[in-house]
Amino acid sequence: TISVVRTIADLRAAIGSFRRAGAGIGLVPTMGALHDGHLALVGAAKARDLKTVATIFVNPRQFGPREDLATYPRDEAGDLAKLDQAGTDLLFAPDVTEMYPQGFATAVSVTGITEHLCGAARPHFFGGVATVVTKLLLQALPNAAFFGEKDFQQLQVIRRFTRDLDIPVEIVGVPTVREADGLAMSSRNRYLSPDQRRIASHLPRVLRALAVELADGMAAAARLDAARNELLSAGFDKIDYLELCDIERLQPIPAAIVPSRLFAAAFIGNTRLIDNWPVGRP
Ligand code: PAJ
Repeated sequence: TISVVRTIADLRAAIGSFRRAGAGIGLVPTMGALHDGHLALVGAAKARDLKTVATIFVNPRQFGPREDLATYPRDEAGDLAKLDQAGTDLLFAPDVTEMYPQGFATAVSVTGITEHLCGAARPHFFGGVATVVTKLLLQALPNAAFFGEKDFQQLQVIRRFTRDLDIPVEIVGVPTVREADGLAMSSRNRYLSPDQRRIASHLPRVLRALAVELADGMAAAARLDAARNELLSAGFDKIDYLELCDIERLQPIPAAIVPSRLFAAAFIGNTRLIDNWPVGRP
């Protein structure tokens, strides 16, 4: 069964004993409020025969001043039961002072790939993610770390700085786990009322249809406009972005002529949902 550690010293001791027994280590960083999307990351680590170390840390550095840090859902007992059930070997759940002790003064910042899409609306966000994920990787020194394609820009940012900083870890992307109607699972879905939940299902539906339309390389601009209007008529309150981008640098492109992906972020009330969809061959 799973055990829980709360300090970096205890994490390293536990991982040291896995290593001495000959095991490789798979790291699954999360902010808790776990659902089947998170557990798919655990499954991917286990499928590679790695000792699976999950982390739960609601990272204050990736929340903006007007975002939901204080109200971000927390349920450690429930999370622990789910992780145990999924076969996780260890949970690292540090508190804020363990991760950011008094005097902490360092940040990892990634340029270029962080500047569009979610980076434009949430300027603090990817710096906070890069800093905490760097720390988690150096604390655990796993063979592989697992991240969801649900947060595709985050996944590519993590690939970028691990390469740039020569952190010796394999970054593994795991396909998005969806509800029956296509909505990407997210800890924030629980904020949605039943009516809002029905509206939300239009996001993956519109993306999927658009991906089919754009697959043959036709000009995207007019189709993207039509899709934005479709989301607004379906009940979305505001579109942060709906763009076609290349999958390496995540820059907008006029047509799907290189490996590309659709990216969307939109609000229903105060809840911001994101999703993305491959165009053509993923
Ligand atoms: P969190 O939102 O808890 O997500 C943790 C991991 O689960 C991320 O890699 C995310 O992409 C993945 N995930 C979430 N929903 C998913 C879904 N429906 N299908 C597949 N994977 C899914 O992302 C974060 O936390 C944080 O930014 C973190 C990386 C932990 C740094 O603080």
